[in-house]
Amino acid sequence: MGLHPLFTLGGRLRLCASMVRPRTALADIGTDHAYLPIWLAKQGLVSRAIAADIRLGPLRSAQQNISRYRVQELVSTRLSDGLDAILSVEVDDIVIAGMGGEMIIKIVAGAPWLKDERKRLVLQPMTSVPRLRAFLAEQGFAVLREQAIVEEGHAYSVMQVQYAPEKVNTDELYPYIGMLDAKTEDNREYMRRVAVSLEKKAGGLALSGKPEEAAALLHTVEQIKIKTEKGRQNDSCR
Ligand SMILES: C[S@@+](CC[C@H](N)C(=O)[O-])C[C@H]1O[C@@H](n2cnc3c(N)ncnc32)[C@H](O)[C@@H]1O
Repeated sequence: MGLHPLFTLGGRLRLCASMVRPRTALADIGTDHAYLPIWLAKQGLVSRAIAADIRLGPLRSAQQNISRYRVQELVSTRLSDGLDAILSVEVDDIVIAGMGGEMIIKIVAGAPWLKDERKRLVLQPMTSVPRLRAFLAEQGFAVLREQAIVEEGHAYSVMQVQYAPEKVNTDELYPYIGMLDAKTEDNREYMRRVAVSLEKKAGGLALSGKPEEAAALLHTVEQIKIKTEKGRQNDSCR
């Protein structure tokens, strides 16, 4: 295997990588193949990285990839359920990507040392995104940056999070679209999909005799649509 094989990261993981602070000490929780820490190490963007997973199978493939791309000096593997086997002093930025929102909640709740303004979390949930956003707000975690990406037909959102109770967003739209703005087509597409799913939910509420809840949700849908459309118009004026 050559020293610099062509190694490109997919758009979703690339977006996660862009939210990791340069030269940080990183933990990638649920690393699987370890592509993210390897890519960051190859770019010189981490001082060191722990590629952690709860299962030995993924860790073996992570180890093989780490050797193949010759980043053993910077990237190590660790068997860990969430952050259980990671010490606070070892890491500054923690990525948890490609997992369900409920699992991300469990992992964050299981590591109280994350409530430290010096740490950053980069979260990319696959499901239960509003539930995760609500949990973060309740616990005093603020979303500093959020961006969506559409890849292979799926729309993903990636958020950079800091423990900062004073910065927590309590906006009506926050549980649904987080801190996304409508400046990119991928952000707008994510917002359109959220609006469609909320409209369906409102229809269900109306049918089950909850017209007030349905109306409140439809109001939210309207706000999301207005924000999306404004962003699209601004974009086409540029
Ligand atoms: C779908 S893969 C995601 C891989 C990569 N992070 C990505 O986004 O492409 C999920 C990985 O999380 C691991 N995992 C699931 N629950 C975990 C936990 N509680 N702690 C650590 N790893 C976990 C699984 O073993 C699996 O390798």
